[in-house]
Amino acid sequence: MVNKIQDVRQQLVQHSHHWLVTGAAGFIGSNLVETLLALGQRVTGLDNFATGKRRNLEQVKESVTQEAWTKFNFIEGDIRNPADCAQACAGVDFVLHQAALGSVSRSIDNPILTNETNVTGFLNMLVAARDAKVRRFVYAASSSTYGDHPALPKVEDVIGNPLSPYAVTKYVNELYANVFGRTYGMESIGLRYFNVFGPRQDPHGAYAAVIPQWVAALIGNQPLRINGDGETSRDFCYIANVVQANLLAAVAPSEAANQVYNVALNERTSLNQLYAMMRDLLRARFPHVDTHQPEYVDFRRGDVRHSQADIGKATALLGYAPTHRIGEGLAQAMDWYVRDLLGKGAYEPPAPVVSE
Ligand SMILES: NC(=O)c1ccc[n+]([C@@H]2O[C@H](COP(=O)([O-])OP(=O)(O)OC[C@H]3O[C@@H](n4cnc5c(N)ncnc54)[C@H](O)[C@@H]3O)[C@@H](O)[C@H]2O)c1
Repeated sequence: MVNKIQDVRQQLVQHSHHWLVTGAAGFIGSNLVETLLALGQRVTGLDNFATGKRRNLEQVKESVTQEAWTKFNFIEGDIRNPADCAQACAGVDFVLHQAALGSVSRSIDNPILTNETNVTGFLNMLVAARDAKVRRFVYAASSSTYGDHPALPKVEDVIGNPLSPYAVTKYVNELYANVFGRTYGMESIGLRYFNVFGPRQDPHGAYAAVIPQWVAALIGNQPLRINGDGETSRDFCYIANVVQANLLAAVAPSEAANQVYNVALNERTSLNQLYAMMRDLLRARFPHVDTHQPEYVDFRRGDVRHSQADIGKATALLGYAPTHRIGEGLAQAMDWYVRDLLGKGAYEPPAPVVSE
């Protein structure tokens, strides 16, 4: 079982399929596109650049061979438009549906836009995938579905009440996917991601995720805020593990379909621990981080206190075996962020101290 992902990769190299990745210009979507192209797959990408970046696709182009890149077809379109969804699903074997508006805070600020994208857009994609008779519809679900349920680690069928509009939309996705399975015989798999991080996750903007936001703040010697006392904890999951789970979910046997799976590590890291790990990784290249201090501010609305995934179900039914723990993932992500931020001139090293 541990080598399941190697088997799947080999099978894909031998038999090419047609994949649709929605949200292809985003963080997770662009990493999926990159892996699939590297495996010789034909890939259609759909994105409206709401939060995704053309630059992410350019980086994918630079990282794969010219031949692989010719197998990529990008559609600039919107999942809120059924015609765009139908066009994107034509002739597709597997859908990896990532397009959505993420962020709990954004959904509290703008619940209608979040609902239009994450619920109406999701339903449009389900209908288009059903009509195109795709083999499997894999979609990005979320750990936010556990809501206010206190049990740890989180087991898939024990959920509480949602704590934000975002969490409602992600739970509704699961309900719709389940109903499409029962009503139309569609095969779907929902992957409940827990705080994913890695290259190409946007460090900027009001709704940036914690890890990229902190890397940028630490490197640029900018103020960094920790919500609450820093003992809030999360099961941070490196992008390589998420990519693995998507490939496994697409080709898993039918018995594994029409269910949801946690995707993380079954580990818990507090924000204070995370901050310390990140400073340690940056210290050698950016000595100024030694004197950097976080500012502790109020807890954020809609945030859950602790989160940790039980990954037994994904391990047993999908053959999921995470390859990167948080430290390994952080080291890889940090290298990428340093190159990316320095490349953009976002950091000016302090003038060297001249000793007498
Ligand atoms: N990053 C995480 O920690 C995390 C955790 C749980 C779930 N998720 C889910 O994973 C998915 C991908 O998240 P991400 O972190 O890569 O975010 P992201 O913002 O980088 O990617 C989302 C992509 O969807 C695109 N998009 C948004 N609205 C669209 C629309 N109407 N039509 C077409 N494209 C649209 C955006 O432009 C963007 O490229 C989302 O569904 C998100 O809810 C992410």
